[in-house]
Amino acid sequence: MNTASFRKRLVMGNWKMNGGLEANAKLMADLHAGAGILADHCTLAVCAPFPYLAQVQSQLQNSVISWGAQDISAHKAGAYTGEVSAAMLVDFGCSWALVGHSERRAMHGETDDVVAAKARAALDAGITPVVCVGETLAEQEAGQTLAVIQRQLGPVLALGKEAVSKIVVAYEPVWAIGTGRTATPAQAQEVHAAIRASLTSLDAHHVRVLYGGSVKADNAASLFAMPDIDGALVGGASLVADEFLRIAAA
Ligand code: 13P
Repeated sequence: MNTASFRKRLVMGNWKMNGGLEANAKLMADLHAGAGILADHCTLAVCAPFPYLAQVQSQLQNSVISWGAQDISAHKAGAYTGEVSAAMLVDFGCSWALVGHSERRAMHGETDDVVAAKARAALDAGITPVVCVGETLAEQEAGQTLAVIQRQLGPVLALGKEAVSKIVVAYEPVWAIGTGRTATPAQAQEVHAAIRASLTSLDAHHVRVLYGGSVKADNAASLFAMPDIDGALVGGASLVADEFLRIAAA
């Protein structure tokens, strides 16, 4: 048996701070219409801005598409103005929460330890954290890619085997996000193989490792052909139903 065959592919959209009631309704209607035939081969999900989670829940609850949030608080409840807790996400049917997206690391100062605490908070509520890692262009050019990824993953792996067995990892090189510049399949595979080795050392061979960064319908198949790429975290292209569905079909 191919070791990848028990890792069902996962194609997840990250809408980022885009959309609105009307645009979301149309996007989800189109996704719902096209997703059914894809569900045997891959898990489909979207991560929406917090205010729209109720809309997403009501529109997708009878579909094959699951949904989640783009962030989660590390704290359970209390005086954390502006934050959204795991329990609140559960109230709106979220299955997933992105943690440590590079935009949050860069713009909101999220450290590796904070990211791990958020992953822990998600797991405690039964939500699957999608732990995002990735190096900047400067780090890549300095040959530090694997060291950066290991550093970012460290506190998450330290949560222990049981926790790690329930996460998803997304490798998103910062230089490939929103730039139209994708890592080549071989470049991505090298990093994914290193992540896989870390996971395997904790018996978590089944954990899915997604690639993200300018994934489009026309480059998805070559990325998905790599043995350690188990799906994609899609930004811009997830806002266009046909493009997103074609990525999932790949
Ligand atoms: P793009 O697909 O727009 O490059 O965004 C990738 C990303 O950041 C997904 O989380």
